[in-house]
Amino acid sequence: MYLTPEQQAILDGSKGETMAKVMKTLVMYGDTFGADKMVPVTSEYNHLVTSFGLKMMKPVFDLMQQLIDAGVVSSQQFSVDPRPVDKNVPANFLQNFIFNKIMYSKQESYEKQLNELGLMNEDAFTCACYLDQVGNKPGKGDVLSWAESSAVVYANSVLGARCNRNSGIMDIMGSIAGFVPHFGLLTDEGRKATWVIKVDCKRKPEAQLLGSAIGMKVMEDVPYITGMEKWLGTELNDENCAYLKDFGAATASNGAVGLYHIENLTPEAKELGASLVTEGAQVYVIDDAELERVQREYPVIWKNPNAKPKLCFVGCPHMSLQQLKDWTDRVEEGLKASGNQKVLIPTVFTTAPAVKKEFEKTPYAARLAATGVVLSYICPLMYMNNPLCGSMSVITSSNKLRTYTTARYYTEAQILDKITKGV
Ligand code: F3S
Repeated sequence: MYLTPEQQAILDGSKGETMAKVMKTLVMYGDTFGADKMVPVTSEYNHLVTSFGLKMMKPVFDLMQQLIDAGVVSSQQFSVDPRPVDKNVPANFLQNFIFNKIMYSKQESYEKQLNELGLMNEDAFTCACYLDQVGNKPGKGDVLSWAESSAVVYANSVLGARCNRNSGIMDIMGSIAGFVPHFGLLTDEGRKATWVIKVDCKRKPEAQLLGSAIGMKVMEDVPYITGMEKWLGTELNDENCAYLKDFGAATASNGAVGLYHIENLTPEAKELGASLVTEGAQVYVIDDAELERVQREYPVIWKNPNAKPKLCFVGCPHMSLQQLKDWTDRVEEGLKASGNQKVLIPTVFTTAPAVKKEFEKTPYAARLAATGVVLSYICPLMYMNNPLCGSMSVITSSNKLRTYTTARYYTEAQILDKITKGV
């Protein structure tokens, strides 16, 4: 790959041995994917995927410490994925012991490292860092060094930024060096669609199911999606952005999508239209029956498929402020219709700490609490990622959580019925 004299000098040690190793790592990464050059990272902030002080991640903590000790830190501040533990989330004595004393016993020292490396602020723990209340929202054309898959796909597709689906650690390397290898979704060619998705549904598709269907079909390719205008219109308002947040996370986890275009809605599709579609692109038609098939074929991996749900998670990726308000209304209405006072299944909604703070300033917070729903800032995946919780019968409206854990997926309407009516 071509390196500028400045980049070559860094590689040769002009900024010290540790920085040279950072550069070498990036060059090797770029070479693997056929990068032609390194380009500057241009976003104001970075976002890191590694947020959890999991004891077995000692090599990561050691590496972070080497960077701190050598003074090789990023000039960018960053947000980071959600914290793994919250005492407000239902857990029994043994689970709490495992979370705090065994699994995430390094959380405190790791957060200290994150602070030394440049964490934006104490509220910057969320995967939905681009929400207004969090403030890490890149602009169109910004080059990023992110790794969190749900954030990468949102930044590329909805914000028009440019970022590859990097791995954890590579995200901080790019930010420290200030350069990332130029390939894939950073290039005009790599942002072209090799699939046309024709949505031919009679009702607005469930965001998480549509994303899942597309992800499983196109895998890491770029889809150009048509037929959504009658539900989403042509403006990226709050409601559409929340829809696309959930949709994109499902494409990125049920498949490996890093960028999608939606006709007449997402920035590049608005600008370039069908010229984004490559010649010979494959076509996938999605109707209501196809979405029903996708949901029907999800494997149920509970030990007892007929078990009563013990816990419900909504908010993976983290919920927006408007989603929290809408869900509060819906839960209240569901309870009223069924004559119940509180949700029938312990339920946790997850959101960014900064959004939680804003929500708590509104009357909705007391109303939601009165329904029995717990509001937390954790990542449900981190909660579920151990044998004790993995054997619990957990339900969720998140296709990402379904993909990576034993949690069972239901549509939002089904979740609502289960928690408010028990059906
Ligand atoms: Fe976010 Fe954790 Fe889900 S990082 S997307 S809440 S798995």
